[in-house]
Amino acid sequence: NDSSLPEAKRIKIRDGSKSRESRVVIQGWVHRLRLQKGLAFLVLRDGTGFLQCVLAGDLANAYSTLTLTLESTVTVYGVIHPVPEGKSAPGGHELAVDYYSIVGLAPGGDDAITNKVQESADPSLLLDMRHLVLRGETMTGIFKVRAALLRSFRRVYEDMGILEVTPPCMVQTQVEGGSTLFALKYYGEDAYLTQSSQLYLETCLPALGDVFCVQESFRAERSHTRRHLSEYTHVEAELAFLTFDELLVHIETLLAKTVAYVLEDPEIAEILSKLNPGFKPPQLPFLRMTYDSALDWLNERGVPNEEGEAFKFGDDIAEAAERKMTDEIGEPILLTRFPVEIKSFYMQKCADDPRVTESVDVLMPNVGEITGGSMRIYDLDELMKGYAREGINPEPYYWFNDQRVYGTCPHGGYGLGTERILAWLCDRFTVRDCSLYPRFAGRCKP
Ligand code: 4AD
Ligand code: MG
Repeated sequence: NDSSLPEAKRIKIRDGSKSRESRVVIQGWVHRLRLQKGLAFLVLRDGTGFLQCVLAGDLANAYSTLTLTLESTVTVYGVIHPVPEGKSAPGGHELAVDYYSIVGLAPGGDDAITNKVQESADPSLLLDMRHLVLRGETMTGIFKVRAALLRSFRRVYEDMGILEVTPPCMVQTQVEGGSTLFALKYYGEDAYLTQSSQLYLETCLPALGDVFCVQESFRAERSHTRRHLSEYTHVEAELAFLTFDELLVHIETLLAKTVAYVLEDPEIAEILSKLNPGFKPPQLPFLRMTYDSALDWLNERGVPNEEGEAFKFGDDIAEAAERKMTDEIGEPILLTRFPVEIKSFYMQKCADDPRVTESVDVLMPNVGEITGGSMRIYDLDELMKGYAREGINPEPYYWFNDQRVYGTCPHGGYGLGTERILAWLCDRFTVRDCSLYPRFAGRCKP
């Protein structure tokens, strides 16, 4: 380093505009490289942003002889200037480099990262190389939106006075059906990875009031679909002393406010405008549609059920039919009052029609179901009938049942699939893009 140069202040790229016209030092990875008219343009990435660095004169020559490579780590020194009128660069400025050093030289030539990871590569290779693919602009954008999304959920819950708890991942009860349980041996005992923290959240109500959690859920889903993962980040909440209508209002408000908070951050809003230019923030109130009227809607349009026939009461509205609805309707839908038989053992029946439950799925365009929720049975005898109907042994649920013994109350809650909400926000074809290291049947690496 040339001792005649002023002392440099170490900064992150995101703080570049605060440090214009003074000498700085920045460390990061070489994101892009271009030689032009005796100048070398290097786009540096440090996770907080991108910075165009200009190497002129000897430095540019040294660059061409030393052959800097993409993804090498470098330390650069220089002064940040606004880019001239008519030129563009990230942040509207660039670093005039007066000195640089290499921290870690990445392989170039045939071993260059760009040769290993290309947009055109087959999906399974891209997943094998996920650790490098993550460095791309699309992926870093999605994961910044993801962080903003989780931050925003927490902010809305804080506004609402709902407390965060952390339930266990290793459990001995199922919530959403035995067929998707991951079983494990727990010091010789049978245990599972949790499918949902709902039951634990319910037990927190008398202790802590309304609660939420952000916890991994696990589902041994055998089907390969664009919206199923074996491990996903589940945002769940449980609320005491409310009605089904109040639950619906709570869910739509939460979603609308969370999206508003996400978009409040200018960096995130810019990323989203690139990933999903047509995105329209959801408007309150969301459209409400009962299961019954959804069947009519589908039948009027000749959309078949899973057997290829007209929909009848009791049929599941599977992914394809659901997508038909979301695509044509084009706005969020609160789909309510599903039949008892196709929903879980714990769901409260509707007072005016015991064939159906106080249940809701939130459907979004392009993705379909992003949230599932319901009011919970709060009468012990009713709950026992629910276990019996599904062939579940109530014994391991003694702690959950006690909730109905020691001061029961009407209550309800829901679970939101983080990756599905992200797929909707960021306009991704599959939830796999929205998980750092996606897990699904056949994939547990890296
Ligand atoms: O509809 P689900 O199965 O509902 C429950 O687990 C409730 N016990 C939640 C509750 O009331 N506390 O799952 C809730 C949401 C779905 O709407 C979906 O967004 C997401 O979790 N989800 C998945 N996301 C990715 N991969 C999977 N295999 C998913 N299964 C559910
Ligand atoms: Mg569901």
